[in-house]
Amino acid sequence: MSVSHSITSDTVSEKLLISHSGPLHGTVTVSGAKNSVLPIMAASLLTNERSIIGNVPSVTDVHSMGEILRRLGAEVTLTGDRLVVNPNAYQGTVASYDLVSRMRASICVLGPLLARHGKAQVSMPGGCVIGPRPIDLHLKGMQALGVRITIEHGYVVAVAGKLKGARVHLGGTFGSSVLATGNVMMAATLAEGTTFIEQAACEPEVIDLANFLIAMGARIEGHGSPMIRVEGVERLHGVEYRIIPDRIEAGTLMIATAAVGGDVMIEGVRADHLGAVIDKLSEAGVHIEKLNGSLRVRASGQTRAVDVTTLPFPGFPTDLQAQMMALMAVSKGVSILTEKVYPERFMHISELNRMGASIMREGASAIVKGVEQLSGAPVTAPDLRASAALVLAGLAADNQTELSGLEHLERGYQRLEQQLVQVGAKIRRLGQDEQ
Ligand code: EPZ
Repeated sequence: MSVSHSITSDTVSEKLLISHSGPLHGTVTVSGAKNSVLPIMAASLLTNERSIIGNVPSVTDVHSMGEILRRLGAEVTLTGDRLVVNPNAYQGTVASYDLVSRMRASICVLGPLLARHGKAQVSMPGGCVIGPRPIDLHLKGMQALGVRITIEHGYVVAVAGKLKGARVHLGGTFGSSVLATGNVMMAATLAEGTTFIEQAACEPEVIDLANFLIAMGARIEGHGSPMIRVEGVERLHGVEYRIIPDRIEAGTLMIATAAVGGDVMIEGVRADHLGAVIDKLSEAGVHIEKLNGSLRVRASGQTRAVDVTTLPFPGFPTDLQAQMMALMAVSKGVSILTEKVYPERFMHISELNRMGASIMREGASAIVKGVEQLSGAPVTAPDLRASAALVLAGLAADNQTELSGLEHLERGYQRLEQQLVQVGAKIRRLGQDEQ
């Protein structure tokens, strides 16, 4: 993993040329879950033994987390989808602004550093286009475990002796917190005594992190439920572990098929991670068949408008809200999309409206009036999931859509365009010299 791999200059200048496509036919395989591997990479710091992690997607966020671990003194190599982390005996304890500002998930090195070294300095993550990214629940959890926290020059400065198990409630204004749950769970694994996390996040990625920690020798129960119990142990050891499939990538592929019609087999997915998505797409008129480890998605290309409210798991995932909006933009009827997780997560509305969609924002909701046809246009991705939504809109639009801002797409999708081309989508990547 090269230290310099963050956002290559050509990615910034490249564009995707997306033509009207569909119906889609064929088979695609889903990559490993980005939002699972990021906290698991941080968890590998809880021991000085080597860990090997399989099914790792080669996306910018993974390379960014790798860079943070290297700056902390670990050796990190990614060969294909196999990530090896060798935390050396000594580790630094500072995660600097230039790295954390690029990726908020960096905050989840806080728990492991405090558990191993009793101190950490992690830059406060800035806000981002999907809304403020507070970390009050992370800090509340650490303080409950006996950590003294001060904020100095934009950094969280945390000092602790041996962490002490405690009962902590991690429910915030917007419900549970995925990474705060992970951060506290990681810190609690080496604390003295038992920790109870109330209103813990139940996302599959939290379960995956817990299973990784248990494989390392941690004692955890209740993961996947709102009440997690962690019994501290003396030490943890290195492991070999395989990441779960990416439910958001799978959901994006399902919504693409719904938007332009077709018959697509999506392999290597966990249907139990996609209950709300399967429910909503079925309500919209898409036929979804659960086969062992795969989903067969059949659609006519004309879906019905449905209302969607995003909620913590098992509710409809906020990371598929933008993609669902692109589908509703060409569905029959009027739908209301309500964000209960990130009320500001609507940067994609203006770009979709430039493509002829009819969407109006009302506070934490968007009212989407389906139109017959979107029209291709040059558009710019404002954030990761909005970029995926604009790819889907481009497939459904007439003429051609030129999408720039691919650095956002590549944060979380290793090969979305290749997967879509594989089932018949007309997408071409334009280098700088071709524009
Ligand atoms: C994780 O972020 C995901 N990222 C996000 O995916 C995802 O959108 C989010 O969970 C919700 O599912 C990773 O796992 C790396 P939260 P996280 O803490 O943990 C508020 C993507 O596109 N909150 O569950 O940071 C917060 O503002 C990314 O892949 C506090 O108030 O999200 C939000 O409104 C985007 N205080 C709500 O909780 C805190 O201390 C849920 O956020 C922390 C969060």
